[in-house]
Amino acid sequence: MKPEVLVARAVFPSVLERLREHFDVECNEADAVWDSAELARRLRGKAGTFTTGSERIDAALLGACPQLRAVCNMAVGYNNIDVEACTARGVLVTNTPDVLTETTADFGFALMMAAARRMAESERFLRRGEWTKWSYDMFTGSDVHGAALGILGMGRIGQAIARRGALGFGMKVIYHNRSRLAPAAEAPLGARYVEKDALFRESDHVVLVVPYSHASHHAVGAAELALMRPTATLTNIARGGVVDDAALAVALRQRRIAAAALDVFEGEPRVHPDLLTLPNVVLTPHIASASVSTRLAMADLAADNLIAALGLGPRAGRPPTPVNPSVLGGH
Ligand code: GLV
Repeated sequence: MKPEVLVARAVFPSVLERLREHFDVECNEADAVWDSAELARRLRGKAGTFTTGSERIDAALLGACPQLRAVCNMAVGYNNIDVEACTARGVLVTNTPDVLTETTADFGFALMMAAARRMAESERFLRRGEWTKWSYDMFTGSDVHGAALGILGMGRIGQAIARRGALGFGMKVIYHNRSRLAPAAEAPLGARYVEKDALFRESDHVVLVVPYSHASHHAVGAAELALMRPTATLTNIARGGVVDDAALAVALRQRRIAAAALDVFEGEPRVHPDLLTLPNVVLTPHIASASVSTRLAMADLAADNLIAALGLGPRAGRPPTPVNPSVLGGH
């Protein structure tokens, strides 16, 4: 008998087919967003699950699903999963790093440019039929080339954004991170490590790429926004909750910073209502990794992880990208 697994959201048919070669698969063809009671009901008796960032896997859910051995998330971030509780119960957690790095960096850079050069705001103006003449100062923004790029969170995606800025646009890269990069990684980017306050004070464009945790909750709030230049922009492709969205809305309304670009939101898919009314913010629905080939690579990697985590396939017992590899010994 094949092990039973739950695929918690709709996914590429080719990925489902591959999972069906190994598992008895329950899937969510309707792509409904299940509440935790429904998720627990569906997960009961399953050996593993393929999740996305939308499913919360916490201690209560794990308690209700004692057969669960693997949670394979189709996302690089895993703040939707209580990894400590999983580890305590011997449940393997996996994520999808690397395959989305360049695609996500492309999008972060595009958002930063859109905010700096007022692309969404000017497009809305044009669509409203308000463009009647050329003017010398119409939608003047701030330059990206040669500007100071401040990156909070200098992991794989942060470094990929730094490469774009330094090598493609001649930007001066400064960054703040839990740990400083090795000099060999800093040198080709000309990247300079600074304290967090200096990052906000000295940047023309701040990009947030830091993972969400208790430590990074509201890492950008009123105090940090107050340090920023009035011409500066803020781009968040990290997670909702890294920015205090209410404080950001106030700063944007009062033009204490020039513009922002947000792909992630506190409590998404809800968006703070004040942000929706502001002209100087670009808003996208959590799509930074959404190129067809990258989403397929992420789904394939999550499937590879699930197959291997449950002791099947060519990498049986050696899932490619475990988050808590310490539990692997027990499988
Ligand atoms: C997307 O936000 C991810 O973590 O992959």
